[in-house]
Amino acid sequence: MDMICRNIINGLCNKNVHNIIEKMGQNRFRENFVGGLFSGLTYSVFEGEDCIQYLQEYVPFHLPQIEYVLREVYVPEGMGESRYFANPTINIMDVGSGPATVPLAFCRLIPKYIHKHRFKITTVEASEGFNNMINVFKATNTNESVEIVNNLKYNILDDNFINDESPFKIGYNWIIIANSISAIGQGRSNHDVNKILNNFISNVLYYSDKVLLTIIEGSLKQYFDIPTYLSEIEKIGFDDLKIMKTVSSIDCQEEFQYIAYCKFYKTKYPDYYKPHINSKSLLLELK
Ligand SMILES: C[S@@+](CC[C@H](N)C(=O)[O-])C[C@H]1O[C@@H](n2cnc3c(N)ncnc32)[C@H](O)[C@@H]1O
Repeated sequence: MDMICRNIINGLCNKNVHNIIEKMGQNRFRENFVGGLFSGLTYSVFEGEDCIQYLQEYVPFHLPQIEYVLREVYVPEGMGESRYFANPTINIMDVGSGPATVPLAFCRLIPKYIHKHRFKITTVEASEGFNNMINVFKATNTNESVEIVNNLKYNILDDNFINDESPFKIGYNWIIIANSISAIGQGRSNHDVNKILNNFISNVLYYSDKVLLTIIEGSLKQYFDIPTYLSEIEKIGFDDLKIMKTVSSIDCQEEFQYIAYCKFYKTKYPDYYKPHINSKSLLLELK
């Protein structure tokens, strides 16, 4: 079987990321594509087969989506340098990590855009299956600038996560919630989502002066109306947090032609995919 992904040949992906996904996916390639993962009515913590299916059905197109936002937030207007991170180490909390999609996206960005920092990532993920994949990332990743330093098997809605201070002691600079705000928002009001974010971000800010919150989403609206939530987030505000600055607000549709050529993904569209990207980044401090 031809094992080389055309995205590697075209320079759109790299061998490290490809190898990690291949190990996580246990040789499930586009020929074995199942699809239809989000056809159920509830949005839950994925387990078992659904984790591999998620990896195959969503990760290859979440990678360019997340990369797009990280690039905009981290190196605005192609400035080659970041405005928001003064220290050489950036501590990141990746909430609802799934199969470490955000760490994988950092591995694809570096060294193309990001040169100066070390990204130390803590993942928060409730699923056993995804935590196993996160362990595959830790064992396989060869990019020394990107490291998963801690994988927390927590349910983000669990009071133990919000009230336990130990996960927050590292002192985070950046909280990234990629394609997981629906998990928090399903069945809740926009105000309630801000309350949940307020509670755990307050814990984070106990150990750092300010933190950047980046929410990244696509166009899936069936569980939670993301565009409306993101447009209201500043107006709703947070009980204990001050929004120092809206760093970035993205609402666009981007064409990622190369998804069609990924070894793992099979799109129902012929040559291209044009997903919506909804994202908001806020710089926060305690009131
Ligand atoms: C759509 S996936 C996003 C994964 C990854 N961040 C990405 O962008 O590809 C949503 C993730 O949130 C997780 N999740 C759902 N509800 C959760 C909860 N209450 N606590 C922690 N994780 C949760 C799911 O298991 C899943 O990994």
